[in-house]
Amino acid sequence: MEGGWPVEGGVLYLTVSLLLSGHTKSYSHLTGSLFSTRRSNTFTVNCSGFDQHGVNPAAFQTIFNQKDFRPVINYSIPTQVNISFTLSAILEVDEQLQLLTSFLWLKLIWNNPFISWDPEECGAISKLTVTTESLWLPDIFIMESMDVDQTLEGLSAYVTNDGHVVYNKPMRVTSICSLDIFYFPFDQQNCTLTFSSFLYTVKNMLLGMEKEVWEIVDTSRDIVRTQGEWELLGINKATPKLSVGSSLFDQIMFYVAIRRRPSLYVINLLVPSSLLIAIDALSFYLPAESGNRAPFKITLLLGYNVFLLMMNKLLPANGTPIPGVYFALCLSLMAVSLLETIFITYLLPLAPTQPPPMPRWLHPLLLYWASPRKCCPTALWKENVGPGLMPTHLRGPKEPGQLVGKELGPREAELNGASGLTSTQLADLWVQFSHMMDTFLFHLYLLFLASSIITVIVLWNT
Ligand SMILES: *[C@@H]1O[C@H](CO)[C@@H](O)[C@H](O)[C@H]1NC(C)=O
Ligand SMILES: *[C@@H]1O[C@H](CO)[C@@H](O)[C@H](O)[C@H]1NC(C)=O
Ligand SMILES: *[C@@H]1O[C@H](CO)[C@@H](O)[C@H](O)[C@H]1NC(C)=O
Ligand SMILES: *[C@@H]1O[C@H](CO)[C@@H](O)[C@H](O)[C@H]1NC(C)=O
Repeated sequence: MEGGWPVEGGVLYLTVSLLLSGHTKSYSHLTGSLFSTRRSNTFTVNCSGFDQHGVNPAAFQTIFNQKDFRPVINYSIPTQVNISFTLSAILEVDEQLQLLTSFLWLKLIWNNPFISWDPEECGAISKLTVTTESLWLPDIFIMESMDVDQTLEGLSAYVTNDGHVVYNKPMRVTSICSLDIFYFPFDQQNCTLTFSSFLYTVKNMLLGMEKEVWEIVDTSRDIVRTQGEWELLGINKATPKLSVGSSLFDQIMFYVAIRRRPSLYVINLLVPSSLLIAIDALSFYLPAESGNRAPFKITLLLGYNVFLLMMNKLLPANGTPIPGVYFALCLSLMAVSLLETIFITYLLPLAPTQPPPMPRWLHPLLLYWASPRKCCPTALWKENVGPGLMPTHLRGPKEPGQLVGKELGPREAELNGASGLTSTQLADLWVQFSHMMDTFLFHLYLLFLASSIITVIVLWNT
């Protein structure tokens, strides 16, 4: 067929028309008279009466009859198909299957040189709708698409009097997209939609843009008014040619950048987890000797596990996102502090009566620790470091400086002597060691909470 379309007149055309549709000869005569071809490569639809009796189907019959072929007069000339789309919704992002499901309104515009009429003769009709079954359609598809195109049946296209065909179709596109969920729920994804012809090489079809990319982004932003999980950041375009064997295909690639709205995850995952950690940190104020602290911490740990079980479905099913690491850290911190509590609960009743021996390197560490700048749980603790060594938490807290002054006496003696601690001094040191561990863990909690809050704020704002 290439290069031999009826430029010379209607004879070949009528034969093809007969073969294709099997219409009667008299009907061919009718279409022949309605569809006049001229030598100057322009084909005019006889539109007289359109404004009075509606469109005469016979006037378009010749165009409908050749819908199986690419509508060009000279087959050496490629058909230019201009593309644009509106991203009307981002329906789903499946991290496990690495799929992006979106909804597009695709707009294709091309030229059909066989359609043309003079609007002045037809009551100023310059635009008509024609069902797409009757027209040749370009086979534009999206290369990343992982689903068959479920376009609705019975859509129409506009044809204008100068032969432009405008075809709008809604498409649900499930496209493959490489998703990186490390920064979940603060992640941005960059998905590609490549429009290309399935069959036509650059010799037969060229793709162009119907409007600029920023216009596509603007309209899409206007339409995606919903406050769904994903928001559209921007769209970039590239037009590399695709070479398959010896054929070269034209294609347009759109890089669609989307960002997750993190508030759902921050409120449901990070805030409760941080609150539990904060409560666990405050539990250092509970006296370890009274034996209340360990059950409290165990209950919290149990509650945290239940929380993780319930919230697990909000996390992506594969990969290691940041919240997963955060939860693991929280859990480890809680477990370590529970272990420490158990150790102290074991040690404190033991220390006054039969204190276990203490490694030599611990002494200077403890001396350093006893400086007056400490606060928080230590302040509560230090009052125990008296001669009695009994838990007396109900008394009001004393000045840390005063306490330290009291402690310095025995400690200096012990350092000078380097050994030979009395059992009271040893018990004293063990209690001191418990404070040290408590304060250390408490500060670790504060540090962890502060750094997680800063991380969330930084990630949210970038
Ligand atoms: C168009 O068709 C009408 C009849 O429907 C006919 O009278 C008229 O001459 C035709 N015009 C042309 C330019 O063929
Ligand atoms: C078809 O187009 C090609 C390239 O533009 C040109 O060389 C050739 O002469 C054209 N054929 C006709 C019949 O117009
Ligand atoms: C397609 O776009 C190009 C450049 O933007 C323009 O020259 C051409 O006329 C357009 N074609 C159609 C059919 O709209
Ligand atoms: C998306 O990826 C493409 C190529 O990998 C790149 O050119 C483009 O700039 C990226 N877009 C964004 C918003 O990062």
